Amino acid sequence: MAEANTTTVTLHVHRFTPRAERAENARGGSPFARKSSPFGGGASASARRRPRGRQWVQEYTIPARPEDTVLDCLLTIKRTLDPTLAFRYSCGHGMCGSDAVAINGTPTLLCTAAIRDWAKQPGTLPQVDDEGFRHVGNGDDENTSVEGAQAADAKTQSLGVIELAPLPGFPPQRDLIADIDPMLDQIRKLTPYLQADGVLATTAEGKVDAFEYLQHPEQLAKYETLSNCIACGVCEGSCPVFAGGDAFIGPAALVWASRFINDSRDSKAMERMDAIDTADGVAACQSVRACSRHCPRGIDVGEEMWQIVAKVRER
Ligand code: SF4
Ligand code: FES
Repeated sequence: MAEANTTTVTLHVHRFTPRAERAENARGGSPFARKSSPFGGGASASARRRPRGRQWVQEYTIPARPEDTVLDCLLTIKRTLDPTLAFRYSCGHGMCGSDAVAINGTPTLLCTAAIRDWAKQPGTLPQVDDEGFRHVGNGDDENTSVEGAQAADAKTQSLGVIELAPLPGFPPQRDLIADIDPMLDQIRKLTPYLQADGVLATTAEGKVDAFEYLQHPEQLAKYETLSNCIACGVCEGSCPVFAGGDAFIGPAALVWASRFINDSRDSKAMERMDAIDTADGVAACQSVRACSRHCPRGIDVGEEMWQIVAKVRER
């Protein structure tokens, strides 16, 4: 038992407390943003500004094992050191997508990030700005240590430092919780559900009052991987064009559109392609392919973008 506590990790957490009167209308902005957008949810440019409030970086040093996840560490902090720290999670094993943040500047999930993979020695971490993006050079954030945090002593070995910030591209709500409603709104606008003309099933006695949607394995293979998307927002947080959703519906919405366009049972493929054949749709994708690098569900998002763009143009 004593050995389990011989290693520590230090978390630098970008914290944010919104000004109460601004929290309702707050939305993020994009350097590519147009004044209005069919995907902007009707929000004005001023309404989509980054929320205002107090920002600072807080340091926590806690006992941890290399195999622990960053989520484990945050739960330890919340339970033993600082109940005010806010973060979001649900399933705890990479299935719900609710805990996407920027770890060392890279969008990923808290619950699947092991300390051994992310802890860096001090001085080797990239600087992460208020928007959650990485920069070379020194930041000027206020640094404070939480009261009661345990400093590593001669008997403990530090596994390193991990920097945590809310998911880039989305307005922060509090601490590590980002407002992902812009992404969910865009996915919803593209009707992410099957629209099929069913055929009445047939039994030995004849037709029965139930629809069946038959599909060959090869047809399933065309969209099966896409159906694994958990709407975590990691691809959107990686996309330099998305940045809040004003100028681009974003890779996650296009993955959901592509999932149904490629489904042989769906009867609305042409309408779905019309819906994304817009300046804010496939035309806005710049093929940067940053979206592909960290999808926790193994979707090659950049390749899917490429294919859906080609399909829309060929139609
Ligand atoms: S495509 Fe991957 S990274 Fe993007 S929202 Fe879906 S699961 Fe997350
Ligand atoms: S908590 Fe559900 S994916 Fe991480």
